[in-house]
Formats: sequence, C-alpha cells, structure tokens
Amino acid sequence: MCGIIGYIGKKQALPVLIKGLRRLEYRGYDSAGVAILETDQNKTVIKRIRAVGRIDNLADKIKDEKFVGHVGIAHTRWATHGGVTEENAHPHFGCDDRLAIVHNGIIENYREIKEMLGNSHTYKTETDTEILAHLIESYYQGDLRLAIEKALSFVRGTYALVAIHSDHPDMVVAARLGSPLVVGVNSVDDNDEYFVASDASPILAYTKKVIFLDDNEVLEISNGKMNTFNLKDEIVQKNIEEIEWDESEAQKQGFPHFMLKEIFDQPRVFVDAIRGRYDLKNGISFLGGLNMTEEEMHSINKIILIACGTASYAGMVGKYAFERLAEISTTVEVSSEFRYSDPIVDNKTLVFVLSQSGETADTLAALREAKRKGAFVRGIVNVIGSSIARETDGGTYIHAGPELAVASTKAYTNTVAVLLLYALQFGRLKRTSLVTGERMLKAMLEIPEKMSKILAQSDKIKAIALKYKDCKNMMFIGRGINYPVALEGALKLKEISYIHADAFPGGELKHGHIALLSEDFPIFAIMTKDQLYDKMRSNVEEIKARKAPIILIATEGDESAKNLSEDIIFVPETLELLEPLLNSVALQLFAYHTAVLLGRDVDRPRNLAKSVTVE
Ligand code: M6R
Repeated sequence: MCGIIGYIGKKQALPVLIKGLRRLEYRGYDSAGVAILETDQNKTVIKRIRAVGRIDNLADKIKDEKFVGHVGIAHTRWATHGGVTEENAHPHFGCDDRLAIVHNGIIENYREIKEMLGNSHTYKTETDTEILAHLIESYYQGDLRLAIEKALSFVRGTYALVAIHSDHPDMVVAARLGSPLVVGVNSVDDNDEYFVASDASPILAYTKKVIFLDDNEVLEISNGKMNTFNLKDEIVQKNIEEIEWDESEAQKQGFPHFMLKEIFDQPRVFVDAIRGRYDLKNGISFLGGLNMTEEEMHSINKIILIACGTASYAGMVGKYAFERLAEISTTVEVSSEFRYSDPIVDNKTLVFVLSQSGETADTLAALREAKRKGAFVRGIVNVIGSSIARETDGGTYIHAGPELAVASTKAYTNTVAVLLLYALQFGRLKRTSLVTGERMLKAMLEIPEKMSKILAQSDKIKAIALKYKDCKNMMFIGRGINYPVALEGALKLKEISYIHADAFPGGELKHGHIALLSEDFPIFAIMTKDQLYDKMRSNVEEIKARKAPIILIATEGDESAKNLSEDIIFVPETLELLEPLLNSVALQLFAYHTAVLLGRDVDRPRNLAKSVTVE
C-alpha cells in the first residue's frame, strides 16, 4: 500500500528520498514520484518527477536532471482512485505548482470537495489526493499548517499526508488520520534533520529516535524545529521513542529473497516470541500485556480472534488451543466481516486483534467496533508502535522482526506461538494441569530445532515443487488443527505462484470437491500423527483411488505413508497443538520454490500490498 518518505535537513534530499522509496517497496506499489524544493537565486520552486512502475524507472528519469535541495517528499503509489499513470502518481500539486502533497489513504468525500471548490480549479488527475491538494490551496493565505488544518477539518476518510510549499523553503507539514506516519529525529553536527515516513524502515539507516504521529495530529517542521498540533491548533507534547530494530535486520542477509530469509528466520525469532513469557517449573505462561486481573480472566466466557488473511489462519489455530486448554468458546472472525456484522460482544468477551503490520484498515476498524461494544480488546502485533498496538488496551508483540516479503511467514508462526501461550495462561487458570502445561512448554522449546530440520529439507521440497510447478490447480486438505494449516498453505501458494489453490477439511471432500480430482489435479494432504490421523489417511486413500497425484506432509517414522505417495515431506513429531508451527514451514518452502521456479516476483507478487491500509 502507498508509502511516504519526506526529508528536511542539511543533506541533499534526493538520495535520501530515493533510498527511502526503495525501503518502502515491500509495501507494494505501481508508480512512484518525488518533489524537491529547489532554491536558485532566492527563488524557490518545486521540482517534481514521477514514473510508472519500479523505483528504478524513477531513478532513471532523474539521472539526467539537476535536483538540488534539502527538503523534499516522495511516494510509492498503490492505485485506488484512477488508473496506474504518471499523471496519477504522487506528489500532487494544486493549480499553481507551489504546493505539493503526498498522501496515503482515501478521501471519501472528494467529489463533494470538488463540487465545493467549483470551477475555479483545474484538475489534471483522477485522484482523490489531487482534490485534497486543491482544497489546501484554497485555504492557503501564507500559513501552510493552518491551511492544512482547515482543509482536514472538512475531509472525511483517512490520510497520512506530507506537504511542502515553495513559499516555505525550510518547512515540511505532515498530518495523520487512520494511516500511519513515523517521524525520525536525528542530530548531525548540532543540526537536527527529520524524516517523515509511513513506517520506520526508511528511517532506520539514519536514526532510531522517532515519534509516532497520532490520529488528528498535524506536525510542522521548520527552521530545525518540530511541533505537533491538534486540529484545534493547540500544541501536543510528543515523546521521542527508541526503535529496537536495526537496519541490517531489514536486509536480505545473503538470501535471494526476503521471503526465504524470513522463512529461515523462524527458529530464531520463535525463541524471541516466547522468551521470558513462561515458567517451565510451574507449567505456566504469563503475558503481562494481557492487563487483566485473575477475576477478570475468570469472567471471560467468549474469545473472539479478529484478523485478515494469514493472521486469521493463525487465529484458527488459536481457537483450537483456547477451546482445548481453557474451555472457552472461541470464534475467529475475518475483520472485514466483523466490522459489518452485528457481533454479540459484551464485557465478558475478550477480543484478540491479530496483525503483522498493525495497520490493516479492516482490522483496525473491527478493533474499534469491539471496543465500542465494551469487550476487553488486546492486540497481537508485530510492528512496534503501529496503530493497532497503540489503540488496544494491552497485548503482546510477537517479536518476529521486520517482515518485508508480502507473503507472511514468520509473523504467522510467531502469532501462533503467542496464541498458544495465551491459551495456556487461561488454561492453567481453568482446567489445564501442571503436567500438561509443563509438557506443552517443553514441546515448544523443542520447536526451533524441529523447524531447522524442516528447513534442512529445502532442496528436497524444491524437487517436489519442480515436479508440480506447471499444474493449474492444487487442493490442500487437512483435518482438525491442520485444516487452518491447509488454508494457509493454499493462500501462500496462490499469492506468490498465481497457481489456483483451495483448501478444505479432508472430511468435506466427498461432499463435492472430490468431483474435481483427476490425474492433473494434485492434492497436498497434511497427514501428520494427530488424533484424526486415521480419518485423514482414509481421505488420502480415497484420493489415491481416483488417481490424483498426492503430496504428503507426514510424521517422521510413518513408513506406511510411502504406500500413498512418493512425494512426502517428513516432519518431526510434536504435540498436536504445535503441529501447525512445523507443518506450515514445509508449506511455505513449497510455495516459495514453486514461485521461484515459475519466475515470479516472490517478494512483491502482483496486485498485493504488504500493509493493506485501505478498506
Ligand atoms: O498485517 P496483517 O497481518 O494485518 O495483514 C493481514 C493480511 O493482509 C496478510 O496476512 C496477507 O494475507 C498476506 N499477504 C498473507 O501472506
């Protein structure tokens, strides 16, 4: 989804902005642009260049231009209003090219604003953002911040906005409502420089000191000073925070793709997810972020897990754990449905909001709805300081580190890890025994080593992928706790390889889906040794009888699996509740290798964005 980077300081702005745009590439985009305040003989003008496609296209266009200036803004666009064209790419101007803005979000009432502005403005694009630029321009009487505040009080929708004006050669103004903005603050030789970005990734190369802008705040940086205001133009005090991630964590570290690096990160970051959050001797886990008294925990009679995509499949695993360990009725709701349903939620309901980015618009809206209805709302989030992390009344970071590939991998396993710890925390308060708690924690401690055993089979999994890469369809099946694993396996395959993939519970096959089976319709079956093993095995036999090719995930030592297929990924045995932590790794590698063999853009698959900040 759109990415923003702005710079004001002593450095030449252009290289900082281009480097920043590259750091934001992972969010997904279709065009990019940059605007710089350039002063020549006391006259300041805004120079702008935009290009469709990759940042490289933009960099190529800039190569032969003179771009000198210390203040600028840049943007990667993910089209919402208007096609993918150079005209529609940001930054956008008002009528007279003295104001430039970049924007992430949606101006819902842009038609109304356009009508209000009447015929006095000429528009060059199809975007909602350009209308906002004209609205600001219409209020401008020499004070950029005031003009922006006035304009925003009229706007309905969401925005992260950064603006420059040629009347103010040393000023950047930014504002936020619903879309994230982080401000990096750095001191170089007694001079302060500032970076304004959609997230910290383009800032970390320069500073770890940041402030997070909150909704309805407007930031003005001018003449080396930074001030934050609310929409009533009152000053708001902001704390400078220190970010833990360093820049190298955001790099590929020798792997050909971020996705592969992130798959291989899993044994290490899994340890980060559980570290300091359990007591083996007492078989308990304790996540301080829960922020609930024992009495409040006892009062909970329903848990709802709200999330989108991969995070929702992690949630489905969590459902099994909460019901089994804590006997609390648990449902998983897709955020975009929850926000428009009439959910039955009260003060005995605990809602967990799951999100890697912490910025997913639907999830954020669902969170607000759950809060409005009086539930306890807690976040399980990766990105520190993200909107969801800040809007929940507590919760837990999953500590997966930066996840830059669009396809989520390590955030999934770490979300499952945290959900298991929460389930145990509630379970030990209710029905789970010390022995069960201890056994589960011991098994969790063995997970990193077992994940590594699966990663060591990467080449073998690649060979299987080579055999099936040209299929047009694939069906994933699993039962019980491995049904969500099948869903996640299918999502991973389709989003990065573009092979059509679906997932069903094994027992559902004969209720319709089995009609699809043929010699060129492979089935990926998860048949590890859990309580539904025999049932699943029968389903696989049914498939074999219909001559559909079968790929299996089976438990190490299950020699009889070899009678069903020659394409088997053996995974180490673990407790049933923990199986998704291992089986998913095998499926991630399968999807990854298939996509690479097909020559796909693995880290940035078509049409997808890493952080879905619009509805
Ligand atoms: O940042 P979030 O976890 O809230 O994102 C949710 C989904 O958009 C995300 O998991 C998506 O499904 C990924 N592309 C899956 O790989």
